[in-house]
Amino acid sequence: MDKLIITGGQTLNGELRISGAKNAALPILAGSLLSETPVKIGNIPHLHDITTTISLLGHMGISITIDEHMNIEIDTQNISKFEAPYELVKTMRASILVLGPLLSRFGKAHVSLPGGCAIGTRPVNIHLDCLTKMGAKITVKNGYIHATAERLQGTHLIMDQVTVTGTENIMMAAVLAEGTTIIENAAKEPEVEDLAHFLNCLGAKITGIGSSTLTIEGVSTLKPKDLFYQVLPDRIETGTYLVAAAITGGHVKLKDTHPESLEIVINKLRQTGAEITCGNDWIELNMHGKRPKAVSIETAPYPAFPTDMQAQFTALNAIATDTSFITETVFENRFMHIQEMQRMGAKMTLKNNTVICEGIPELTAAPVMATDLRASASLVLAGLVAKGDTIVDRIYHIDRGYECIEEKLTQLGATIRRVPH
Ligand code: EPU
Repeated sequence: MDKLIITGGQTLNGELRISGAKNAALPILAGSLLSETPVKIGNIPHLHDITTTISLLGHMGISITIDEHMNIEIDTQNISKFEAPYELVKTMRASILVLGPLLSRFGKAHVSLPGGCAIGTRPVNIHLDCLTKMGAKITVKNGYIHATAERLQGTHLIMDQVTVTGTENIMMAAVLAEGTTIIENAAKEPEVEDLAHFLNCLGAKITGIGSSTLTIEGVSTLKPKDLFYQVLPDRIETGTYLVAAAITGGHVKLKDTHPESLEIVINKLRQTGAEITCGNDWIELNMHGKRPKAVSIETAPYPAFPTDMQAQFTALNAIATDTSFITETVFENRFMHIQEMQRMGAKMTLKNNTVICEGIPELTAAPVMATDLRASASLVLAGLVAKGDTIVDRIYHIDRGYECIEEKLTQLGATIRRVPH
């Protein structure tokens, strides 16, 4: 397994282009299963999770063409299997996103049940409950979800809890259902919005996009002509590089991004003392060489503070002036980075779902590893401000969600290299 070695102490400066959003690209690739005509999708990040999704679609017999710019054309005409096998689902939970489209268009789906994962138990009960209410017959046996339906029926659904992939799965299922589906307490994440826009470009009739009530009027087929859809920029990658600049006292300009989707993250970074200016598609952060002030955060569904930025802000608070409280309310076990940061000298105490963090001027390098994507990224950030060489192990987690992280950080002046195993 590859490792990253980061020599701390460099101030980050420079410009970067932000990649397309992983968590929008994944549902959009799954959503292309709904189209009877080929669709082309651009601004797809080059990531392991994308490769897994392509393997999953390939396994179903779908033809996929990828050009040198990572534009992907998907043609579902020769689909022959309606399943997501365990071997693929176990490496990427987002494979569950094929359930709604397969069931809605082909009336059958056989999808491995995703297991628990490092950040929490992450059940899919809401996905299954809603599909059942839409008329699907679902059995769970031998670790697989087996679902069939004549034609799904539109209905009024109130989601018990805000769920991102749950909302996406049901929205995709509803697109080809008979009648109107109303989803209340829907997730409002920008990635859910992007999927809804994509589906409407296919010919779906979704309104209420970006709100907590989605109305989907079912249509009988989707046959877009020459559709070339661009995935929105990755707000979490953007936030991670903003923190990388803030934590090192640096100055960066991030291009091809979407400042509107980062309002709370930008506000929190301003509270740390960062000077931030934004244009339509860029964000510039200047820390003027200062050490950041600590900021307390509490994660919750969008538009509140994203759980996917919690670990990165924990790294920032580790070296900030003052004490902060970091509360995680979305996943019950998303604090794996704490013990690793403590090994780097961070003063942190975990009480239930809150970390009390007393900032210190500098961390010390150590060999570290984490078992989830954002936690691993936060250890790279911690390495940027640690004295000595931090070795981050198990970086395949990072490769699942950050395109060319070492090249991008090097471009900003970090001393970081990948060591193959
Ligand atoms: N939940 C249930 N039952 C369900 C579905 C969800 O109890 O049927 C619970 C979960 O256990 C969790 C909460 O609801 O406690 C919210 O989970 P959600 O379903 O929103 O998470 P997800 O859809 O599985 C997506 C992202 C995650 C991101 C979360 C929260 C994708 C592919 N994944 O996961 O991204 O953290 O939303 O915003 O979109 C990441 O990129 O690193 C990542 C983990």
